[in-house]
Amino acid sequence: MADALHQIVYISRALAPLSDDAAAALCHAAAERNRAAGITGLLLHDGTRFIQAIEGEEAALRALMTRIARDPRHHSIGYVSDAAIVAREFGDWGMDYRRVEDVRAATDFLATVKRALAGVEDPGLLAAFIGFAVIGRGEHRRGFVPR
Ligand SMILES: Cc1cc2nc3c(=O)[nH]c(=O)nc-3n(C[C@H](O)[C@H](O)[C@H](O)COP(=O)(O)O)c2cc1C
Repeated sequence: MADALHQIVYISRALAPLSDDAAAALCHAAAERNRAAGITGLLLHDGTRFIQAIEGEEAALRALMTRIARDPRHHSIGYVSDAAIVAREFGDWGMDYRRVEDVRAATDFLATVKRALAGVEDPGLLAAFIGFAVIGRGEHRRGFVPR
């Protein structure tokens, strides 16, 4: 019988902001590997932090998380959740990022994140990703109004 479905969500701090090229390379490599391993989810990078949800069969997921956790591109991983799930929240694998200096793109970033979350129903997951997209650069303290 196949392993039960599992989901892990974490937040981490980037060692340095990812350049466009580095983000594209990470995105490309992760998409290929995740597809091969039956892993779905979403990765966001706002220039200083990451938030990622990964889901799939537990053994494959734990193996991936071990690799991700020792990746020197980030540190200070904090787990938001690590639990069995009944059904996947993400139908596919995706990644979005915003350059750290691109403060004006905050509204666009949030809109993109909301689109990526279109099929997600779990309120905790929605809160974690939307909170990440809004709070990232402190726009909420400068009168930023999410649309
Ligand atoms: C924030 C972050 C998220 C990552 N997410 C994935 C992922 O979803 N899938 C993946 O295969 N690699 C991901 N990686 C890359 C892995 O850490 C690792 O480099 C890659 O799996 C190759 O592993 P290996 O060098 O041990 O063979 C991520 C890296 C970082 C920094």
